[in-house]
Amino acid sequence: MPYQSIQQLLKTAPVGTVVTVKGWVRTKRESKNAVFIALNDGSTINTIQAVAQPDQLADDVLRLITTGACLSVTGELVESQGSGQAVELKISDVLVYGPADPDKYPLQPKRHSLEFLREIAHLRPRTNTFSAVLRIRHALAFAVHKYFNDNGFYYLNTPIITASDAEGAGEMFRVTTLDATKPPLTDDGAVDYSQDFFGRETNLTVSGQLEGELGAMALGKIYTFGPTFRAENSNTTRHLAEFWMIEPEIAFYELDDNMALAEDFVKTVIRYALDHCADDLAFLDNRLKEEEKTKKKEEQSELSLLEKLRFVVDNEFQKLTYTEAIEILLNSKPAKKGQFQYEVSWGVDLQSEHERYLVEKHFKKPVILTNYPRAIKAFYMKQDDEPATNGRGDVFGPTVRAMDVLFPGIGEIIGGSQREDNYDKLVARMEEVGIEPDALWWYLDTRRFGSAPHAGFGLGFERLVLFVTGMGNIRDVIPFPRAPKQAEF
Ligand code: 4AD
Ligand code: MG
Repeated sequence: MPYQSIQQLLKTAPVGTVVTVKGWVRTKRESKNAVFIALNDGSTINTIQAVAQPDQLADDVLRLITTGACLSVTGELVESQGSGQAVELKISDVLVYGPADPDKYPLQPKRHSLEFLREIAHLRPRTNTFSAVLRIRHALAFAVHKYFNDNGFYYLNTPIITASDAEGAGEMFRVTTLDATKPPLTDDGAVDYSQDFFGRETNLTVSGQLEGELGAMALGKIYTFGPTFRAENSNTTRHLAEFWMIEPEIAFYELDDNMALAEDFVKTVIRYALDHCADDLAFLDNRLKEEEKTKKKEEQSELSLLEKLRFVVDNEFQKLTYTEAIEILLNSKPAKKGQFQYEVSWGVDLQSEHERYLVEKHFKKPVILTNYPRAIKAFYMKQDDEPATNGRGDVFGPTVRAMDVLFPGIGEIIGGSQREDNYDKLVARMEEVGIEPDALWWYLDTRRFGSAPHAGFGLGFERLVLFVTGMGNIRDVIPFPRAPKQAEF
């Protein structure tokens, strides 16, 4: 009898046939009349119940069947007598692949805290919560590739090791083959990277965008989907040192096209998860409902996880400029009562409390903010022709064609822009912010030879998974989180 995953088996449920199931024991329960073993193999949130007569299994085998042990169980699939499952397995044979000493195995059949599970990140995929998150993560990754393939984009692989700082923010991990304790020095005492394997100073990439732009200027519509690294020491529930980013870049797109693409893309991949991860989402939805019950009434969320996801895919995102958002924030209750931790005024970078006020309190839906002050955005963004005004005669500073997509509970999920395609303006801006144009000569070549309007954005994949799963901490939606003081394996 060929081996089938529990997911395949429950889908076809061939009652009356003999099947073999392989998986890990979630629970074992013994009664006078039977032994019940709940098995899960990770293919689905559902377990399959295997039932044996009490005297059917030898004592030394029965003793090894404990939570966490790995078994191969063969038997006839029959309609279940119990509630909660349609079918169960009438055991004819059990093989214990690997026992799990119950005194030492850290996962017990009870709800463990997420903090505890973070300490045993190597075993947590065996829990219901994490296996559901990881299956949804997979579905979302597949939906990302499907979306772009269906829409004529080419998948471009951009380098991980690079000499350039795509964001110009200096948050890079250095990559070197030099001996850190006694690196070779130049005559003026600086580290001599010319003796390094790469012959110059190199880093892990913070974004594939600059190379993505080269791709768009050749293939038209491209996207990247790969790991990116930020050496920012942010110990928050929204930041990782290693995260996956999806970056489409499109020739001949302007800011409006870019916004429309971002909205359609993110809605389509969320819809894919709703359509293909029903069991896992229902499990996480219930989990959250239980958690909400433990909170004070006024802190409980109005919408369940599934309602929140449906709301996002069914409603148009709110679009407004940064300048309009500042007006709203200045006139908001928290600003007037001095309840924001950080004050707002035109020109400041919005803090997550401001973003969340706009999304969760004011508009109560996802928001796309555009045309940010030039001074707080990256050098490559296209400069607007006119400075911002508020309609009452106030004229503010110069702006760029930037867009940030803000989500409830998350804040910024996407950052992007139309790109500066004018060579002279781009070089002038680089010099202004202290980026040596010679270091990015290859990037500037796109503006020297056949330049064109183009635009793109970056979606932080873990922030998307965080939103779709309703988890509260970004370290719980990536199998092996890399964050300050967390890189054991
Ligand atoms: O806003 P960011 O820094 O934009 C860029 O990197 C552009 N080059 C993207 C582009 O236009 N192609 O990052 C983009 C997104 C953010 O909106 C956020 O979702 C995510 O990446 N992100 C992080 N996610 C987890 N941990 C971090 N430390 C992150 N930093 C950014
Ligand atoms: Mg950003």
